[in-house]
Amino acid sequence: MTTYTSQACLQREAQFGAHNYHPLPIVIAKGQGVWVWDPEGNKYMDCLAAYSALNQGYNHPKIMEAAREQLETGVTLTSRAFYNTRLGEFLELVSEVTGHDRVLPMNTGAEAVESAIKVARRWGYQKKGVEEGSAEIIVFDGNFHGRTTTIVGFSSDEDYKVGFGPFTPGFKNVEYGNIDAFKKAITPNTVALLIEPIQAEGGILIPPDGYLKQLKQICEEENILFMADEIQTGLGRTGKMFAVDHEDVKPDVFMLAKAISGGFMPVSVVTADAGVLDVLDPGSHGSTYGGNPLGSAVASAALRVLIDDKLPERATELGEYFMERLRAMNSPHVKEIRGRGLLVGVEIREESGKARPFCEALKDRGILAKETHESVIRFAPPLVISKDELDWALEQISEVLAAEKVPA
Ligand SMILES: Cc1ncc(COP(=O)(O)O)c(C=O)c1O
Repeated sequence: MTTYTSQACLQREAQFGAHNYHPLPIVIAKGQGVWVWDPEGNKYMDCLAAYSALNQGYNHPKIMEAAREQLETGVTLTSRAFYNTRLGEFLELVSEVTGHDRVLPMNTGAEAVESAIKVARRWGYQKKGVEEGSAEIIVFDGNFHGRTTTIVGFSSDEDYKVGFGPFTPGFKNVEYGNIDAFKKAITPNTVALLIEPIQAEGGILIPPDGYLKQLKQICEEENILFMADEIQTGLGRTGKMFAVDHEDVKPDVFMLAKAISGGFMPVSVVTADAGVLDVLDPGSHGSTYGGNPLGSAVASAALRVLIDDKLPERATELGEYFMERLRAMNSPHVKEIRGRGLLVGVEIREESGKARPFCEALKDRGILAKETHESVIRFAPPLVISKDELDWALEQISEVLAAEKVPA
């Protein structure tokens, strides 16, 4: 096998890659559980888990086995022009986990969101009787649903959209957490709301208790689809299978991605009941790789691991412990610690500067974490983390946060 040095990898990416990321200068060459190694053999704990895609950790033996088994059949992609042996069982398992009777397989998170938007609009015209071309979807300030032109068009973050217009019409932004703002935005043309139950990219923002339940109730009264983007918050991360479960809300539509395949490959789904998802008919939507047998085999195994290894329960237990210990540090640099399960944000005080130097200092102590929205350090380790591993992480974090000096 070719050997690579970190320096050579950094240099090649900088020279040949589009410069649309600003990564920490770490090259990951090997992974096991919560641990990764760079080509030189330095070891780090990954506390980002690929933005919650690696909930099951690196190199999970059961997912690896499912991937290997499918690779050995020689069938990795059939396209949906034909059937394959793995898709049906994957769809059935997703249906069981979500409680929805139909599942649309796609690849990336953004594709799932785009697909859900199409479904909601078609449902609006065919089932709700909205005039073709006038459907409205309510979205929330601070949202993050991906990077396509339609999706960034309704972002409230200028960095995501400058220079990419013109944008798709049909979206109304309202304040996250404000019920009245939502009520006021509803018109007879409103077909759906699209919401993250916790705004993760927005800085781990948790809406007030009861907010999601109230939204759902209004949606029922007004015949509006409640569409939950659980791409980052779903699949155990917040201590329940879905973040909406904390309020006993059953959305009309789920969008899932990331951890559904445990970080092995891009797999996403849109789920809903037949009355909604059956607005799609042959020819109306599709994807070459969507529902491919390798992805389906891997994702079925990844979902089983979440259930069998009780990863949501683990996230609850360790998440509470983690936040308690973080709060007990009483760091002079910390404005707020917030989170649910193992999705935790540490907001840095303005006087202590930005979150990035703290992430760099953590990296020097063997912890990989990434800032979000400049002032928040996000901790989202794989859910397979053990208490001993978390204790080790807490020691390192305390060295960085408890220091009088702000890291340079
Ligand atoms: C809530 C949410 N929705 C959608 C996406 C987009 O997913 P992808 O990057 O797979 O397109 C993300 C990615 O971070 C996300 O966090």
